[in-house]
Amino acid sequence: MTDLIAGQTVEILLTREKIEARVCELAAEIARDYRGRAPHLVGVLKGAWVFMADLIRQLDFDLTVDFLGISSYGVGAQSSGKIKITKDLDVSIEGRDILIVEDILDTGRTFKFLQDMLSVQQPRSLRLVTLLDKTSRRVVPVHADYVGFEISDVFVVGYGLDFNQRYRQLPDLRVLRSQPSV
Ligand code: IMP
Ligand code: MG
Repeated sequence: MTDLIAGQTVEILLTREKIEARVCELAAEIARDYRGRAPHLVGVLKGAWVFMADLIRQLDFDLTVDFLGISSYGVGAQSSGKIKITKDLDVSIEGRDILIVEDILDTGRTFKFLQDMLSVQQPRSLRLVTLLDKTSRRVVPVHADYVGFEISDVFVVGYGLDFNQRYRQLPDLRVLRSQPSV
């Protein structure tokens, strides 16, 4: 990975082993609550796809999956404040138990937007599982039902999370300290 991360400080925040162990614990909690209810898991692209892939393989009961594509950040680490749908749901969620799968809950704006948009379609229930939660950054008062790790106000990449679409393939979660213009 040295070529990939040259010139940037990307120290490990959470190792792949630590993430794997926590994903198993989250799956156990979710299984307790959803077994027998055939939940519909909705992954938020692109950041959540790696987490979702690991999570669903720990869930040994009937479920279905879909993805929502949204882009909330323009370029870099700063939120543009605008949320755009880049891929809509494939099937109706009416009457379904929906579990949104997110990579990270930051200001809360994205989840609030999704909550408002999806609840109009009258799901039976709507909950959120997020791998990471930056509670100190919250602007909108929302909370996740299942949280992998609470982290401080740092910018993280890897395990699906990006900076300018890069670093998603890193197996560990790393802190990006310097952000040179690219
Ligand atoms: P929110 O709307 O501020 O809660 O932003 C949530 C979205 O911002 C996440 O789904 C990520 O795509 C992105 N995001 C927030 N913090 C980070 C970070 O530290 N690294 C990478 N993406 C982030
Ligand atoms: Mg995201």
